[in-house]
Amino acid sequence: MALFSPWRADFPALAVLEAQGQTYLDSAATAQKPQALIDALSGYYTCGAANVHRAQHQPAERATRAYEDARIKVAKWLNAACPTEIVFTRGATEALNLLAYGLEHLIEAGDEIVISALEHHANLLPWQQLAKRRAAKLQVLPIDASGRIDLAAAAGLIGPRTRLLAVSQLSNVLGCWQPLEPLLRLAKAQGALTVVDGAQGVVHGRHDMTTLGCDFYVLSSHKLYGPDGVGALYGRGESLLQLRHWQFGGEMVRIADYQSAEFHAAPLGFEAGTPPISGVIGLGAALDYLAALDATAVGRHEQALHDLLLAGLAERSGIRLLGAPQVALASFVVDGVHHSDLGHLLTEQGIAVRSGNHCAMPLMKHLGLDGATRVSLGLYNDHNDLQRFFDALDQALELLR
Ligand code: ALA
Repeated sequence: MALFSPWRADFPALAVLEAQGQTYLDSAATAQKPQALIDALSGYYTCGAANVHRAQHQPAERATRAYEDARIKVAKWLNAACPTEIVFTRGATEALNLLAYGLEHLIEAGDEIVISALEHHANLLPWQQLAKRRAAKLQVLPIDASGRIDLAAAAGLIGPRTRLLAVSQLSNVLGCWQPLEPLLRLAKAQGALTVVDGAQGVVHGRHDMTTLGCDFYVLSSHKLYGPDGVGALYGRGESLLQLRHWQFGGEMVRIADYQSAEFHAAPLGFEAGTPPISGVIGLGAALDYLAALDATAVGRHEQALHDLLLAGLAERSGIRLLGAPQVALASFVVDGVHHSDLGHLLTEQGIAVRSGNHCAMPLMKHLGLDGATRVSLGLYNDHNDLQRFFDALDQALELLR
């Protein structure tokens, strides 16, 4: 099936990579960037960089306006009730660490923090370390064979001692959507706070915070076709009030003296120091770009490409998929072939896929593996990319078997 991406030309790196003989199939690790974002970054630096929320001069006012406009764009993208529910961070990982420190005072010895078996390190380690600091217990929800959190087991594990549930929306390894609504309901019924890690999911479709009903949602810009080094934390108004400040410094402080200080509420109170200004402005530009696309056409293209990927993998013998991926990626192992050997041969042929543990070592262990090969797609990929991948895969497997 011929599948062309009408948006490919919007991403100048694709042509450069192609000229270098590279086929980019690693968008789950980071996505390529649209020209609109590159123009916004270049415009910001060309017209005069300035710090935000600090000075009255014209460049500072311009930068502050662009920075705050980006907050409005993220709030709109997530359908948050208000832009003040968006805190800019240096990535999804920092947003999760912010939560783990900011909510620490609510966790007591013997309390339970619930995550799932499929979490990547970013949504595991901050909670694991919080549990250790507070002598709390980390409960791990099991997953089923398709890679979805087991709801029956969750109903047994989320209980009166559960203070917090933190789960991914979409697994970066298994590519399946998680049953968030019932999980959030189970946690809410116990009065627990809920955190959704949207690092992988946010880029596929639109996600509405008002209807999802979680307390907190985190995203990273670089997987959303935006710049790296920036992310966002969404927190419902009343949930943000529960956070204690965690990083201290300029701009988050309202009044400072040698021995004491008073701090701003969210969002500014959680944006200590000079924030990633250009990154935030770039994220806003990436969202403008995405908002102008026909979302239905993007969804259809992503699905058709994913179907093509799964069909090609299914056609080849000895390939075992991890879980039952629903969107954008597929991780697999090949009988009798080590993933690093396969990764090496694919790299040699200019195929950019990820091979290894995918920042999810416990999940790999749970699956009885030390790694896997992952192909992941962006809206700019087309059938030629997949054809080149399958040709390279066939050649590599011929050599390795
Ligand atoms: N979490 C990113 C990935 O899945 C880096 O590759």
